[in-house]
Amino acid sequence: MEYLSSSLSGTESFAQKTYDSVKKHHSKTATVVGLFGELGSGKTTFVQFLTKTMGIKGPITSPTFVIEKIYQTNESSGFKNFIHIDAYRIQSTEEIVLLGWDNLVSRPENIIVVEWADRIESVLPKDTIRIYFSHVNETTRKIETKHVR
Ligand SMILES: Nc1ncnc2c1ncn2[C@@H]1O[C@H](COP(=O)(O)OP(=O)(O)O)[C@@H](O)[C@H]1O
Ligand SMILES: [Mg+2]
Repeated sequence: MEYLSSSLSGTESFAQKTYDSVKKHHSKTATVVGLFGELGSGKTTFVQFLTKTMGIKGPITSPTFVIEKIYQTNESSGFKNFIHIDAYRIQSTEEIVLLGWDNLVSRPENIIVVEWADRIESVLPKDTIRIYFSHVNETTRKIETKHVR
């Protein structure tokens, strides 16, 4: 599916749709959402709207320097922990494994959203929900995914 977001509110609507489809997606392991796309394509903005939709109180800033941030979610959201990972600075998948990746993925109560997911491609579970962002112009972003409708 291709979605054209012509403003921040377009990206907010897309985040709401994403949440509606992931909460139905029951799994024996964590729900992993991989975000792909260049700098400024809207990945962090999407995460901010997704956490807002899930009732997580901000501010949600990009975890570029710390790599990983964990937020407790509202019980009614269907998840217990929202894990936001920014893999931009990851040089090898060993680093993410050392951060406890396998344990995070093994827990169905986790939703894990990864910016720059291509950096850790080899450890992404098979059922990762993949979302691709790109620039169209200053205010428009193209968002592509097979999973959200
Ligand atoms: N339609 C849109 N959707 C998302 N962000 C947009 C849109 N139009 C403009 N922007 C701006 O683009 C920038 C996206 O930055 P950010 O979300 O940090 O990107 P990334 O995390 O991919 O590097 C923000 O400054 C945001 O305000
Ligand atoms: Mg970002």
